[in-house]
Amino acid sequence: LDPLPDLNVGSDPDMLREEQKQAGQLAWKVYRTYWSAVGGVIAASIVLSLLLMQASKNTADWWLSYWISTLNHNGSTCRSDRSLADGVLPRLLLFSPGGLMSPLPAGPAFLSTNTSADVKFYLMVYGSIAVANTVFTALRAFLFAYGVVCAAEAIHNRLLDRVLKATVTFFDTTPLGRILNRFSSDLYTIDDSLPFVLNILLANIFGLLGMLVVMSFGLPWLLVPLLLLALLYHRTQHFYRHTSRELKRLCSLTLSPIYSHFSETITGLGTIRASGSAARFEGENTRRLEQNQRCLFLSSAAMQWLDIRLQMIGVAVVTGLGMIAVIQHQYGSVDPGLVGLSLSYALSITMLLSGLIFSFTQTEMQLVSVERSEEYATGLPSEPQHQNTQVPPAWPERGLLEFCGVDLAYREGLPNALEGVSLVVQPGEKIGIVGRTGSGKSTMFLALFRMVELSQGQILLDHLDISTVGLSQLRSRMAIIPQDPFLFSGTIRENLDPCQRHQDQQLLDVLDQCHLSSVLSRIGGLDAEVGERGKCLSAGQRQLLCLARALLTQAKVLCIDEATASVDQKTDQLLQRTIRERFQDHTVLTIAHRINTIMDCDRVLVMHAGKVVEFDTPAALSQTKNSIFHNLVGEQGK
Ligand SMILES: Nc1ncnc2c1ncn2[C@@H]1O[C@H](COP(=O)(O)OP(=O)(O)O)[C@@H](O)[C@H]1O
Ligand SMILES: [Mg+2]
Repeated sequence: LDPLPDLNVGSDPDMLREEQKQAGQLAWKVYRTYWSAVGGVIAASIVLSLLLMQASKNTADWWLSYWISTLNHNGSTCRSDRSLADGVLPRLLLFSPGGLMSPLPAGPAFLSTNTSADVKFYLMVYGSIAVANTVFTALRAFLFAYGVVCAAEAIHNRLLDRVLKATVTFFDTTPLGRILNRFSSDLYTIDDSLPFVLNILLANIFGLLGMLVVMSFGLPWLLVPLLLLALLYHRTQHFYRHTSRELKRLCSLTLSPIYSHFSETITGLGTIRASGSAARFEGENTRRLEQNQRCLFLSSAAMQWLDIRLQMIGVAVVTGLGMIAVIQHQYGSVDPGLVGLSLSYALSITMLLSGLIFSFTQTEMQLVSVERSEEYATGLPSEPQHQNTQVPPAWPERGLLEFCGVDLAYREGLPNALEGVSLVVQPGEKIGIVGRTGSGKSTMFLALFRMVELSQGQILLDHLDISTVGLSQLRSRMAIIPQDPFLFSGTIRENLDPCQRHQDQQLLDVLDQCHLSSVLSRIGGLDAEVGERGKCLSAGQRQLLCLARALLTQAKVLCIDEATASVDQKTDQLLQRTIRERFQDHTVLTIAHRINTIMDCDRVLVMHAGKVVEFDTPAALSQTKNSIFHNLVGEQGK
């Protein structure tokens, strides 16, 4: 074989940097996981039914041969004396299928002639064994199909559950393509390809077992060349297995960047076309595809490598036997029946062995997908799921918010995005938050919703430390309108009130307050579709819809993150007024895009580089000559 071309995946730093590739033998854990995903009882029943199926099959064969032997036996005894029969018998016993079993006991049945009653008896027994075999075969097929579907479902559900509960940091650091890859390609393998090869593997294993058992009774000396053959096969598969498994891992690994790049390209299509970079992106796509194709190609090539070797072993054995027969023929006589029989045995044994090797290596390769999905199902950092039963159902009743020396870093190794933030927001206060981009305004909200955990300090809401509250409790008691508004595909109604808790009139009222009623009547009422991610609405209308959603919740604390940036100034001002009216006794934190919309706030918080630099009434701040707020007002006033 030519030396393998340099795979060169390692030269792309972002491809291998974070998505880890396991190396070496599949851990026993993977097999165990699959076994338990199938379900211990079902898995054991599958094995048992396979055993019964194989046993009944071999028994049927044995019965047939037994019958034939007795026929011969009886025929001989009837016509002549035992000594003549003995002369015929040894060869028959050794090489006829019936002879595979130990010599027959001489019961009364064998001494009688072959009457029709005997035929009936043999046929009946044979028929029952065949029926049993059919039943076991069907049972095994059903159990297997059921088991693998159970396994696929269990693995999928566990994976989905863990990914949905993963921390925000995980999504920050993991490209979407990697997650998509596990959910598409790996799950497909577990759903479809793995059961297919596993089925063949199991059939081969039990077929071989059956053959070994029969052989050790009938032709024990054949086990010696078989052992030698097995060693040869083992050596060959050993070499292939390690290569193919790593190649499969590389295949899976190189698939993620394709997904990532493709989804990125589709999302940013407008920008790509506008900047004339379509060719570059096409090239990049081709490059990543090529990377994956190389692994796939090598994988196929390695499979051919194995296939050729397995077949060559088979050919060598058969050729060897043929040669021996020819040579023997030169020096003496050979029994043509014997030669034919050994040739057919050699063929079936080598075929069984190579089938076993092939299905085993393929199964192991497909199990890499189980390994990868397990990696996520067990290794992902997940958000704490506990609920705090001591939290009163009505908490927070007042909306008193206290930040005490809060430090927050997005990840280890990153600088603090919030540093020593301490402030108190009185119940019902309307706070405007301003500051340069990147000063930590949005981060404050994320800290409040515990999207990222604090590295130091506490946040108290109505004197209760929010880190002691269950995440779903905490997040359900506050409302946020994030910086980029998110709508689901579906109707306006589903987006406004996903849990269907409100009357239509309430929905219409709130839409009216958000100045959306004219839009609503134009697109066709509450049941109009908003399209994927709200595509049918403008950015501003999407923001307004998110605002309406938040207004509906009537949470005690409302956080608004530049939620009106895409809305015209006049509507913005009207909205601020609506919010102030509807949320009169609620605490409202507004990150402002336009300074003038927060001029009538109770107090203004100015952030800079993760720290609170000014926190006072707008009037007081604008009168202080060298305050940042004063400068900001001046800038925007121009
Ligand atoms: N998901 C993130 N991962 C790492 N760093 C982040 C992340 N989001 C924001 N940051 C960093 O935190 C700092 C504050 O960001 P942010 O609070 O979003 O600013 P803004 O005041 O514009 O809302 C910035 O320096 C930004 O680079
Ligand atoms: Mg922000």
